[in-house]
Order: sequence, then C-alpha cells, then structure tokens
Amino acid sequence: MVTKIWDLRQYDEQIEENKDMNEIKTIFENNGLIAIPTETVYGLGADARNEHAVKRIYKAKGRPSDNPLIVHIYKKEQIYAFTTNLTKEIETLMDSFWPGPISFIIPLKQGYLCKSVSGGLDSIAVRMPSHFIGRQILKYVDMPIAAPSANMSGRPSPTTFEHVYHDLNGRIEGIVNGDQSEEGLESTVLDCTQFPFRIARPGSITKSMIEEVIPGSVTTDGTLNHQKPIAPGMKYKHYAPDTPVQILSSFNTYPSSKSNWGQTAFIVPRNKEFLVPEEAMFIALCEDENDIKRANHNLYQILHQLDQNEKINHAYIYGFDLKDDTTAIMNRMMKAANQAIVRGEDL
Ligand code: TXA
Ligand code: MG
Repeated sequence: MVTKIWDLRQYDEQIEENKDMNEIKTIFENNGLIAIPTETVYGLGADARNEHAVKRIYKAKGRPSDNPLIVHIYKKEQIYAFTTNLTKEIETLMDSFWPGPISFIIPLKQGYLCKSVSGGLDSIAVRMPSHFIGRQILKYVDMPIAAPSANMSGRPSPTTFEHVYHDLNGRIEGIVNGDQSEEGLESTVLDCTQFPFRIARPGSITKSMIEEVIPGSVTTDGTLNHQKPIAPGMKYKHYAPDTPVQILSSFNTYPSSKSNWGQTAFIVPRNKEFLVPEEAMFIALCEDENDIKRANHNLYQILHQLDQNEKINHAYIYGFDLKDDTTAIMNRMMKAANQAIVRGEDL
C-alpha cells in the first residue's frame, strides 16, 4: 500500500475546506487509516463507528484485540451519542482539562460506536486533543475517531512524523505531518467508572492537578502498583526500545569503575553532564532535575534515537525522585528499562 503524506503545518488559523481535508475525510469514510498529530503523541485514526476500519487499526499495529482504543472528539456534545448520563464531577473535569492531554473512561452506551473499539468492555475512553492540526481534522471530518498511538505494538510511541513513518509506512493510507508533539507522553487515563476516580495511566495531568479541581476525587488505592492492570494496555510490554536501558538513580558522583564506556549513552539532565565519563555519549534529557516538562517532551524522541545509533549498545537514563509530576515519566522509563535500576554509586 502506498502511504500518502500531507503536510498541514503551513496553516496557522482555521484550516478551511481544501483538497487535503477533503481527501482525509473521504479516506476516513471509506475504512481508511490515517495517522494524525496530537499534543501527546501521534495517533493512528479510523472512524470509531466502523467495525471494519477499527479492526484494521489492530491489524496494522499488531495490537491484541482486547486492548481498547481511545475515541477522539472535537466537541463535548459528540460523547452523548455513546455514553449514559455523566456525573457532575466527570463533566467538571472535562470542562477543566479539555481540550488537553487527559482521557476519561466513562460508561459506554451500546449501538453507536463499533464493538471492537472498546475491546468488548462496557466502558469507553474518550479524549479531546488540543493540537491545532489534530483538532482541525477532528472538526472537519465530523466523526469520532478511534486512535491508539501510531506505533507498532511494543515500540515506543511516536512523537514525530518520522517515527510514524518508520513504523507504519506502507501499512496505512496516510500520515499527517504536524511537527514534534509538544507533551511527548501519552495522555493521563482517568477511570471514571467509579468514585473516587482512579488513574489508570499517569500523564502530564497529575493527581494533584485533578484534586485541585475536585478535592478527594482521585484514589491512590490500587493504582499503579496494583497486581491486576486497570487499563488492559498496562499488562503488555510497552515503550521498550531495542537498546537495553537501565534507570540510573541518585547519580551524584563520578563513576568509579574502569568500565569501557565507548558504547554507552548517559541520558541525563544537562547539569549532570560533568559526571558523564568522557568516552561515553551524553544525551541531554532536559536542563536540570526540575525540568520535567522538557524531559517528558524529549523521552520518546531519545528512545527512538538510541535504536538508530549503531554506536550505542547500552544506555543509562536519569531516574527522577518519585513526585506528583514525575510519576508519568518514571512509569514510562520503568517500562523502557524493564524495571532495571542501577544506583549511581555502583557504577
Ligand atoms: O495520548 C494518548 O492517549 C494517545 C493519543 C493518540 O491520543 N493515545 C494512546 O492510545 O496512547 P493507546 O491506545 O496507545 O493507549 C490507550 C490506553 C491503553 O492502555 C488502554 O488499555 C487504555 O487506554 N484504555 C482504553 N479504553 C479503556 C477502557 N475502556 N478501560 C480501561 N482502559 C482503557
Ligand atoms: Mg500505545
């Protein structure tokens, strides 16, 4: 299959009806798959009402069919077609954080969306992205778009057009270029099928940000360390680059061992560069240990870069202290590292 590429970055205001938009809409109306930019990561979109189209998403990604997808919308009214009455609390959070990097799992009303999109569950995850181009597409096509991250299953999520192209060129109808995703980590997934709500996947909208809007609305009970994964996706190996990665905790001293560092990368904040052995490769994760937004933005781009660099056969990545705003990045790093942690003083 020839994968068509659109570059919509030239538009800075409303993207009016034009040839590209018409083409994109027609492809979605005809079972097609198109990767679109969002502020978190690129998504692989299809018409969420169309069983055939949604099944093709699972196939193109090599994704297990019991792992449900997130439905993307342009305006809130769209969700009333496929959900039962929402509580005041859910609506309040949607109004506070949308458009933006948070998905809500809400009760599913059968009959409007196709069956595969929810992987057979009676709930559905929904999100309204803020990315200018992604939003304009959702508005123009005027349909709910099911979109998991636009990577092959098991690979790091794509934050650039090139990442999508690498994984999915030839497997899908098209890719829309929209520059590097600003956030860089997948959205927070908030399970709202019970109260207090539970964070099924941490993201840049944190527990304390949610609780600032509704105090006491998020339980920590059974969240991230829970045996049974809350989001079905959490049980699958995820986000892992091919290059072995280990998390480096308390990196405060210069390594004492005489290891051969020639093929090792240190992915650490710039203010720790002076601790990186000269023969090793330094990759800047962010400016300093408080620069979490930048670290989120860069992480997947760096993981992709590791696999492209033949000189690197091992990497250490800086482990942040676990806090409200580092929960998401540490969750992704732990998966990329297969839970492997090394202490700085043991190097
Ligand atoms: O930022 C994002 O969320 C990106 C962009 C494209 O929007 N999308 C994304 O989708 O990360 P995906 O499919 O890679 O991750 C969706 C996660 C999975 O872990 C899935 O198991 C969980 O959300 N999920 C979806 N629907 C669910 C449901 N009804 N109940 C529990 N978990 C659900
Ligand atoms: Mg994904």
